[in-house]
Order: sequence, then C-alpha cells, then structure tokens
Amino acid sequence: MDGFRKGQNEEMSHESTGNLFSPGLEGVPVTHSAICDIDGLKGSLTYRGYPVAELAAHSTFLETTYLLIWGQLPTPQQLRDFEGEVQMHRRVSFRVRDMLKCFPATGHPMDALQASAASLGLFYSRRAIDNPQYVYDAVVRLIAKIPTMVAAFQLIRKGQDPIQPRDDLAYSDNFLYMLTDREVDPLAARILDRCLILHAEHSLNASTFSARVTASTLTDPYAVVASAVGTLAGPLHGGANEDVLLMLEEIGNPDCAGVFLDKAISSKRKIMGFGHREYRVKDPRASILQGLAEELFARFGKDHMYEVAKSLENEAESRLGPKGIFPNVDFYSGLVYRKLGIPRDLFTPVFAISRVAGWLAHWREQLGANRIFRPSQIYTGPEPRSWTPPEERIEPLDS
Ligand code: CMC
Repeated sequence: MDGFRKGQNEEMSHESTGNLFSPGLEGVPVTHSAICDIDGLKGSLTYRGYPVAELAAHSTFLETTYLLIWGQLPTPQQLRDFEGEVQMHRRVSFRVRDMLKCFPATGHPMDALQASAASLGLFYSRRAIDNPQYVYDAVVRLIAKIPTMVAAFQLIRKGQDPIQPRDDLAYSDNFLYMLTDREVDPLAARILDRCLILHAEHSLNASTFSARVTASTLTDPYAVVASAVGTLAGPLHGGANEDVLLMLEEIGNPDCAGVFLDKAISSKRKIMGFGHREYRVKDPRASILQGLAEELFARFGKDHMYEVAKSLENEAESRLGPKGIFPNVDFYSGLVYRKLGIPRDLFTPVFAISRVAGWLAHWREQLGANRIFRPSQIYTGPEPRSWTPPEERIEPLDS
C-alpha cells in the first residue's frame, strides 16, 4: 500500500485561508450518518449494523430497502404492507410512457432514467417534505416505478410496447419479466434480488453525496433521485460496470491479461472495475458477486469473459495490489447481469434501481438534521480588473 497515495495529512493542505483543502473531499466528513459503515482495510460493509453478506444471503431487496430507509428490519406485517404498497404503485402514467417514446432510441438508458425520474415530480404534489405520509408515498413511488421506467424504455427503444407489471410477481421477478417479456427463472430472479441488495447503499459515494446536496435545498425527492442518477452515470462511478465488459472484450483472452495490464499501467490508463476511495482490499461486494456469477454459470452455462476477468484479477494482484487497488463492486456485476440477459447499457440503470434505496435513506436522514451544503473554494483567478472595449483587447498568446 506504500506509495499508493499521500497520507491524509499531507494530501489535505492548509491554504492561506486557513481552511483544510482535500481534493475530492477525501477524508473530509460532511455529515453524521447511521445508515452504512465501511471498513476499507478489513473489507467490511454493514447496513444499519447488519453485514451486507448476511443481508444478501437471507434478506430481500424490499426488506433491505425498508431497513435502510426506516432503520429497522420490518416486522412481518410491516413488510407485507410495504411490499403491497410497492406492488400497487408499479404502474406508470401513460404520459410517462409517451414521454419515453419521444426519447431517441439511440439515447443512453441512464439519460432516459434521469429524465423520467425527474418527471415524476410533475405528477405528485411538491415539497410537502415535512408530511410523513408524503415522505412514505414518495419512497414507495420511487422504489416501485423506477424499474418499470427502465424496462419500459428498453422495450420502447426496441420498437415494442412496454409491458405492464404483473401483480403475482415479486419485485425482481417482475422487473426481469417486464424487461424480457418471458417467464422468469426463480434462480435468476433471486440472484438479481441479491445483486440489488449488494448495490443498495454505500455511504457517501458521489451519487449519494449528490443526493444529499440536492436534498439539503429542501427540493422534492424526485429531483433528489434525478440528480443522483445523473451522478451515478459517470464512468468513474456506476458507469464503470459497462466499461468493465468492454475492457474484458478488448482483452479477449485470459492469456492476454498480463500484457494488457502492463500496457495500461505504463500508459496510465485506469483498469475499470478496480480501485476504490474507501477500500484497500478487495471490495466485499465483488467477492459475493463473483460467487453469484459462478452460481449462474453452473446453472446456465459458462461465460468466456469470466475466465478473462479471473485472469485479469490474478495478474493485477502483483501489479496493483501493492498500491491497494483491487476489484470493486463493478468488476463482476456486469458478468452477472449479462448472464441474466440484461443488455450492457442497462447495467448502470439496474445499479440505480437498487441505489435509489440508499439515496432515499440519505434523503430522510438529511432532512432530519438539515443544513444546506455550501462549501467554500480557494480562488485562483485573476486579480480584480476593468472591462475593456473590444477593439482594445489582445488575444492572449497561449489561447
Ligand atoms: N487502475 C489503475 N490505477 C488506478 C486505478 C485503476 N482502476 N484506480 C486508482 N489507480 C491509481 C491512480 O492512477 C493513482 O495513481 P498515482 O497516485 O500513481 O497517480 C492512484 O491509484 C489514486 O487514484 P485516484 O484516481 O486518485 O483514486 P480515487 O480515490 O480518486 O478514485 C476511483 C477512486 C474508483 C475513481 C478509481 O480507483 C478509478 O478510477 N477506478 C476505475 C473506475 C471504477 O472502477 N469505478 C468504480 C468505482 S466503485 C463503484 C462505484 O462507485 O460505482
């Protein structure tokens, strides 16, 4: 790990303002939170105190969502009520479907999701955020409708009509059904549900920070989720899961992983699905996802890209491991989604379906002790100067 990065004290510097400056806010606490805890050296992750591995083994996505947002595992009655409410609100207005039909079929599904999540704010009364019923209804609507909108855009862009949700199907089963228009294998649906649990929350990552910043202005929860979706889309964050698959295809063969790594490292190219601001060991979620991928391969057949991925991980250990760079959650998730029949550009929307639970937990927590986010900056621009008429301006030499 030596040499991976400058120590926190070194990296944060006292500028002339006397304020601490840490690029990317590394190591800077910006809130108290009781939702999720990460130990980046031990590789442990808990939601409300429960190890994520236990939740992924025994819980369901909706139960975990309830836990994250309301802080306790639900009683059987609370869970039945929550599942029932979510099931009742899965449908989206024909206006939302018509809006999705107007989007270009070539557009990225994350952009379609960001726009459609924001559009929900047009349908529901705004900013009653101090009313507990409004908060509960907004949570239910967002958890219920986001998968429907992702599946609807997928079918619409293929020239098909969206499929209505099926009331007899559980959350993940219904999503796969709406996406593929086929009967869903129970193992496939359970594995997707476990993936959703694993992706549901991860403390103050970029999109959750975005959600909290937006929440701190007291805007509506649909705007909070839309801003977080936009942030998740980037390749340094949730968008990495797509790029991992592209990278594995580029490598093509397990024997080529070492040469690929050497070239990438010498040209300072990032290895997608590797590295994390918090972890200095393999992301615990990556290990669980790898196990889920193997379960799927045992049942539905192998994927050659998995051999490439394992070889890349092995080869990377000696090259990047000493710097604390190991596979993160995005490294194996794409291989799981691909085996579930989910197209590559839907990997990040599926991540978003899950992470909406964490965003909403942080939205509620932010409202409980709100102060608007308004950090400061260290100004590096010109000294005050006077406007000059156009004819007196000279083009700077370096422009
Ligand atoms: N491949 C090669 N080198 C890396 C990688 C990587 N994936 N990640 C970090 N490094 C190196 C980096 O080049 C730098 O080296 P040096 O100090 O010699 O210049 C050092 O490690 C620190 O990197 P950084 O980018 O400053 O670290 P960060 O904490 O700001 O970034 C990260 C974390 C996740 C953005 C970064 O590791 C990365 O870009 N990884 C690839 C993209 C990726 O997989 N993103 C998914 C993140 S996890 C899930 C999620 O958020 O969705």
